[in-house]
Amino acid sequence: MSTVSPAPPRIERFADVQALAAGEMAAIDALIRQRLASDVVLINRVGEHIVGGGGKRLRPMLHVLAARAAGYSGTLHTQLAAVIEFIHTSTLLHDDVVDESDLRRGRQTANAVWGNAASVLVGDFLYSRSFQMMVELDSMRIMRILADTTNRIAEGEVLQLLNIGNPDTTQRAYLEVIERKTAVLFAAATRLGAVLAGLPPAQEEALARYGLDLGYAFQIADDVLDYASDAHTLGKNIGDDLADGKPTLPLILAIERSAPAQAAMLRQALQAADLAALPQVLAAIHATDALAASRERAHAHARSAREALSALPDSAARAALAVLADHAIDRNQ
Ligand code: IPE
Ligand code: IPE
Ligand code: MG
Ligand code: MG
Repeated sequence: MSTVSPAPPRIERFADVQALAAGEMAAIDALIRQRLASDVVLINRVGEHIVGGGGKRLRPMLHVLAARAAGYSGTLHTQLAAVIEFIHTSTLLHDDVVDESDLRRGRQTANAVWGNAASVLVGDFLYSRSFQMMVELDSMRIMRILADTTNRIAEGEVLQLLNIGNPDTTQRAYLEVIERKTAVLFAAATRLGAVLAGLPPAQEEALARYGLDLGYAFQIADDVLDYASDAHTLGKNIGDDLADGKPTLPLILAIERSAPAQAAMLRQALQAADLAALPQVLAAIHATDALAASRERAHAHARSAREALSALPDSAARAALAVLADHAIDRNQ
């Protein structure tokens, strides 16, 4: 009698991706909660607050799917996924202090509840906890990748600071910031899947390229949502980027595409970090089709992310990565 192997799951929608990764994501969540613990009460409170707020867990999901798409069959990927989410979470705690944000994951930010000092210090705790956990993996290659990644993230945040209030910030300067502050962590998440599986360099690079392009797309989508969504849906405040004087792609494109009087209004609003100007800024962004153009840029990066996947053999996990490339930008939170 011939044995018929079951048909591989069809992965077409985000719900299919979630179902495919559900077991691993539950294990990662348990590990995150377990390793959050400290005997310092305030660390537990702040940690629980930010982790309990949810979050999409997109980076750990990308890591486990990349590892599976690379043919990895071990269990170290759950630990590495938790490391990556801890790094991400620590940057959020720091980011909300720098951006003076008071809403995150549908909750008051940690800085709004406990103040800046507590947020920065618990962010440091999570950062160093992630180092403890990566050292447990005892791989110099993995440590090097994550050390380089976190260093680049810090550079991105400082570069962004230098652009604050500068209406002459170019698209190129913007892309340099988002590559470092966001895309490199996505790239590390997917590259490390290839590293765990021991893939040859060309395929490792393809998975890293996928993550990098997805990271660009993801941050551009985030910057669109900052002008196009609402706080209830997004779980973050709208208009934060303007209020911070942060020149993101929608505003950069709107300035480029405006006649002189409108461009002067936009430049002034950015320089003064003037949230009260949000209605006029939004009107100019719509009139210049800057949101549609930004969305198209995000889609172009998502397409090129998907193309990079052709270096890998067909599998359910590879199909899931392709679905995630679209989901990362066609999202409302
Ligand atoms: C927020 O990242 C920071 C950016 C890079 C835009 P996410 O949108 O992944 O945040 P959570 O983890 O889902 O809350
Ligand atoms: C992402 O930029 C910052 C990090 C990489 C931590 P944003 O400042 O736009 O992120 P949100 O919108 O506050 O999540
Ligand atoms: Mg922010
Ligand atoms: Mg944002």
